[in-house]
Amino acid sequence: MASSNLLLSLLFAAAVVCGGAISGASAENTVLDNVCGSLGGYYVTPEACLSALCHDPSSPCAAARDAPALAALAARLAASNATAARDSVAAAAASSSSAGLRACLQLYTGAAAALEWAAGSAAAGRLPGAREVMDAARYVPSGCDGVAAGAAVPVANGGFDAMATVAHAVLASLSKGY
Ligand SMILES: *[C@@H]1O[C@H](CO)[C@@H](O)[C@H](O)[C@H]1NC(C)=O
Repeated sequence: MASSNLLLSLLFAAAVVCGGAISGASAENTVLDNVCGSLGGYYVTPEACLSALCHDPSSPCAAARDAPALAALAARLAASNATAARDSVAAAAASSSSAGLRACLQLYTGAAAALEWAAGSAAAGRLPGAREVMDAARYVPSGCDGVAAGAAVPVANGGFDAMATVAHAVLASLSKGY
């Protein structure tokens, strides 16, 4: 207990230090820096947060001017990322006889649909339900690794793991209570 509290304190301290270093680089978007610098309690570093939210040039992270816009962006990116991962898994499953890959595809098909709903919900400012859907989606990558039973799961599975972890942390930090 004491050691996990110490670990959390260290993570928070690291997040504060790194957040300070990053804010100089993009001074015009303090919302992005503030939120990404505050996710240590979710084991998300500022670098991982900025990398996930600013990865897609067609959805510019700097355009998110306030916390609700940032939550909507995170949910939208997670939905798009799940859809892309689903398509990769579908392609892999089509060229394989692995029942595990077909099970993984079912997990992604469900997650992509649920995250589309979550993205719409977050865009409308309703975060608690979107946050819970995101929480569940975080377990899809390890679920796929498990059900694949040795079959090669596409690398997009790991990419979605990173994206879902960050998106959940952003929604959870911005959505207090139910
Ligand atoms: C999903 O997001 C992660 C984290 O930003 C990224 O590395 C990965 O390339 C994305 N996957 C797709 C298919 O866009």
